[in-house]
Amino acid sequence: MVERILIADDDAVQRRLVENMVQRCGYEAIVVDSGDAAIARLTDPDVPAIDALVLDLVMPGLDGMGVLTKIRDAGLSIPVIVQTAHGGIDNVVSAMRAGAHDFVVKPVGVERLQVSLRNALNASALKGELQRIKHSREGKLTFADIVTRSAAMDNVLRTARKAATSTIPVLIEGESGVGKELIARAIHGSGERSSKPFVAVNCGAIPDNLVESILFGHEKGSFTGATERHLGKFVEASGGTLFLDEVSELPLTAQVKLLRALQEGSVEAVGGRKPVKVDLRIVSATNRKLLDRVKEGHFREDLFYRLHVLPLTIPPLRARREDIPHLLRHFLARFCAEENRPITAISGEAMTLLAQLDWPGNIRQLENAVYRAVVMSEGDQLGLTDFPQAAAQAPTMAGPSSEPLLMEPAFHSAPAIVPGNDIPAVPFFMAGTLAMLSHGGDIRPLEEMEAEIIRFAIAHYRGQMSEVARRLKIGRSTLYRKLDEAADKDSPTLESEQTD
Ligand SMILES: Nc1ncnc2c1ncn2[C@@H]1O[C@H](COP(=O)(O)OP(=O)(O)OP(=O)(O)O)[C@@H](O)[C@H]1O
Ligand SMILES: [Mg+2]
Repeated sequence: MVERILIADDDAVQRRLVENMVQRCGYEAIVVDSGDAAIARLTDPDVPAIDALVLDLVMPGLDGMGVLTKIRDAGLSIPVIVQTAHGGIDNVVSAMRAGAHDFVVKPVGVERLQVSLRNALNASALKGELQRIKHSREGKLTFADIVTRSAAMDNVLRTARKAATSTIPVLIEGESGVGKELIARAIHGSGERSSKPFVAVNCGAIPDNLVESILFGHEKGSFTGATERHLGKFVEASGGTLFLDEVSELPLTAQVKLLRALQEGSVEAVGGRKPVKVDLRIVSATNRKLLDRVKEGHFREDLFYRLHVLPLTIPPLRARREDIPHLLRHFLARFCAEENRPITAISGEAMTLLAQLDWPGNIRQLENAVYRAVVMSEGDQLGLTDFPQAAAQAPTMAGPSSEPLLMEPAFHSAPAIVPGNDIPAVPFFMAGTLAMLSHGGDIRPLEEMEAEIIRFAIAHYRGQMSEVARRLKIGRSTLYRKLDEAADKDSPTLESEQTD
């Protein structure tokens, strides 16, 4: 959930000291005892990514300078803070030239380290955002531009990466604002067609009578108003990717034509005489369940199977809350740069609240909330009051499966009743209070309360999982298992919410 900091130092005492400080700063610490081990950890694709490295310069074997060189050679963009003994200024200069972000002199104090880490993480988030915007403009978005730390998204991205190496039709399903178009663009940008056009059509936004002409083109004079010849999206996208957004909204007559175009690999313009061959890959997206549209008779089954060859379901943000802090940091960095605002952080309270909201508008909603907060805020840190809409949504956003905890911001005094739910909401800042009775006066299920306690503990210790496990007196693996179980329990409800 929180940023992961790698500490590389051959001295066990130093390692322990820095590990402790990093944890006190609210980050997760991972330690290694050599330069080689650091490189191995940073380049291992099977373990969660590292957000920043605190690197000792003097180590036997591969030293700090060697690590920096390897990081650069491997094209890793991770920010590095080097640690140096007093008087090692020459080394520092070389390290900064080799790409280190900052340096600290041993023994470093916790405040100094915190400032350095925060700056490094902010700078790296900004760099990532700028790159994403640039790639997006150039039509070269890749999977590296997708901000995520969640296992659920890892699975989706693994499949999407494989899909990118072929022209297999991909259907992306997911709620509004989850990043369907972003993934479609990454699939295009990571494949062989990346230098060719990516053409998006919003099938839901075209008037019925113009769908065919927009997709397949028309000849001049083929209908009233057709004053010019128009190529159509299929021909425009030829050689590249055609992104059929909101494909479930395509009228039935256009579905027939689309099916024929896909089967025959050619399109016929309205009023045209002969079909034109097109070579393109189709990626479609929908925020409804396309199979349901088939069952309701709004979508042709044969077309469904043509588009649905490789389905990808993007989980809603509330099913991958561990992404929230990372997305917040990225958006904060970007909007501060765009709006020229000197905000450097989001308060722990605000972060905790934001990470617990349901975000029905998903990443787009989060992005807009940060944008608004950055523009309106007057301080150098965003706090709870900078997210009034989010805070106000808190009580109503709770679905039947939501925990009663954290529904009310501090300034509301009376405990609210969550609509549609028989559990009274406990005001967030009556921290440490657990509602044991449901609104009906019965004892709540143990499992539910346990999940609530764990969630509270994670928020309370700002995501430091070792601390959470220690305080709850359970092992870390037990903690993760319980979290997985709670998440599994959540998902069927989320599914059904999505299809409502
Ligand atoms: N993982 C992510 N990292 C960074 N930005 C993201 C991510 N996912 C989505 N976004 C941003 O969130 C916004 C919404 O994403 P996108 O347009 O891809 O969603 P969508 O699923 O297509 O939404 P809709 O169903 O409303 O069309 C965009 O600005 C996008 O750049
Ligand atoms: Mg979209």
